[in-house]
Order: sequence, then C-alpha cells, then structure tokens
Amino acid sequence: MQTPIGVFDSGYGGLTVLKEITKHLPQYDYIYLGDNARTPYGNRSFETVYHYTWQCVQWLFKQGCPLVIVACNTASAKGLRSIQQNDLRKYYPEKKVLGVIRPTTEIIGNFSKTHHVGIMATSGTVQSQSYLIEIEKFFPDTKVVQQACPMLVPLIENNEFENEAADYFIKKYLDELLQQDEKIDTILLACTHYPLIKKRIEKFLPANISVIAQGEIVAASLKDYLNRHAEIEEQLSKNKTIQFYTTDSAEDFNDHATIFYGEKVRSQHLEVG
Ligand code: DGL
Repeated sequence: MQTPIGVFDSGYGGLTVLKEITKHLPQYDYIYLGDNARTPYGNRSFETVYHYTWQCVQWLFKQGCPLVIVACNTASAKGLRSIQQNDLRKYYPEKKVLGVIRPTTEIIGNFSKTHHVGIMATSGTVQSQSYLIEIEKFFPDTKVVQQACPMLVPLIENNEFENEAADYFIKKYLDELLQQDEKIDTILLACTHYPLIKKRIEKFLPANISVIAQGEIVAASLKDYLNRHAEIEEQLSKNKTIQFYTTDSAEDFNDHATIFYGEKVRSQHLEVG
C-alpha cells in the first residue's frame, strides 16, 4: 500500500512547493491535490477556507497519507490552527498536517540586514496577521509590513502574468509596500503562486532588495522534520511516484500545471464536497 506525502493547494501554486520538496526529498511518494474548482481562496472567509481545506486534507488522509503539507499560505493562515488543534486530535490523532507559514517565519529574519521585511500575500493571509504574529516570535527586532495583492493569483491562475496588465499591478503593490517602510531590504513572496512572477517583481526593485520565495525553505524544513520524526518518516512509502489530482478539469490542469511545476504532469479529476 502507498503511504505518500500529501501536498495541497487551492490551485496550482503548491506545485512550486512540491517541485522543491521532490528535489530535496526524491525518495518518497507524493499526491498533489489542487482545489482548482474553488480557487482562489484568497478573498474567502475563514470558515470557507477552513471548510475547503479540511475536506481536501481528509481526502488525502483517505488516500493513505500519514502527513499532509498545506502548501498554500491562505489555507495555512485560515485553516491550519483549527485542523491541528481540534480536528486531528479528535479524528486523526496519528496523522500530521504542516503548513508553510511556520517554516518561513522561523528563518525569514535571517535574510534581512536592515531588519525590515515586506510581505506580499493574498488579502486572506494579510488579514489573518499570521506573518506579523509569527515573525515577532522569532525575530522581535524585525519590522514587518504587509501588502495584500488580490489581483496577482487570478492573473497567474489565468496565465495572464507576462503582460503589461500584470506589470501594472506588480508595480502598484510594490509601491504601496515600499511606501509603508523605505528600509525594507527583503520581500517575502508569501503566496505559493508568486514564484512565477519573481523575475517580474525583481525588475521593479533596486539591487539591494532581495525577493525570497518559500519553496526551498519549506522543503528544507520538511527534510529536517522527517529527520526528527522517525515515527512519521518510517510510515512513508518510498517508490518515487507523484500523482496529481484536481477538483476541476484534468485537461486544463495538465495544460497549465507545467508552468508551475516545470515539467509535464498528468492529473486526474476528483469531486470533493
Ligand atoms: N497559493 C495560495 C497561497 O499561497 C493562494 C491562492 C488563493 O488565493 O487561492 O496563499
């Protein structure tokens, strides 16, 4: 029986994380689930994001995953705490769910020389204040400001991110972010979709500001977690397979996923809810 690592996102964004995870940890089996039928999550309420996330996580558990990575900041910000603190204890005490915010906030302060960090994220992640709260715990001397970028996920999901319309919004959000704090030297892409526009973002920034994507950070942190948790690691099957599922059209997913994942994927459709 396969006991893969589950990787979940509201759509395609988590593929940028899966890519890095499989690069660092190629020995395991993986199942990716994109809730493309209900994406974007970024503007939805806490209750809705939690409900969708928990449904998808449970589906991954039913496929045999002992461990699920919520590779979506919005879902990590809005759904993870209830899942970890209530649902897992009650229904799946032997399973684990990890998000992307904690591993990122543990390390992000190390990238900044000025101790001024800017966060670009969905409205949902920004409103949750998760990044402000978590970074404060690890780097109390670092000033953090956030910018909601609600147009970026729809542009990226619709393959409209390499044109002037995308540049208009990228520049607008960067201006708004930097106006809040001119000492920022580190900008965190706190949305798993944004690595696709990292180069376009960098184009508008001076060389002293670095732009950080999360994929590698999350992968390194997962590797460390599995080293420390033999009880989970030993349960994982190791046949190097990767399965892709989407709640929307498998054909559309296959067409579009390549730009996030870097290679062709073959997905299957799945009904949730
Ligand atoms: N990729 C998700 C994240 O990291 C956001 C996508 C969405 O809004 O659904 O926040």
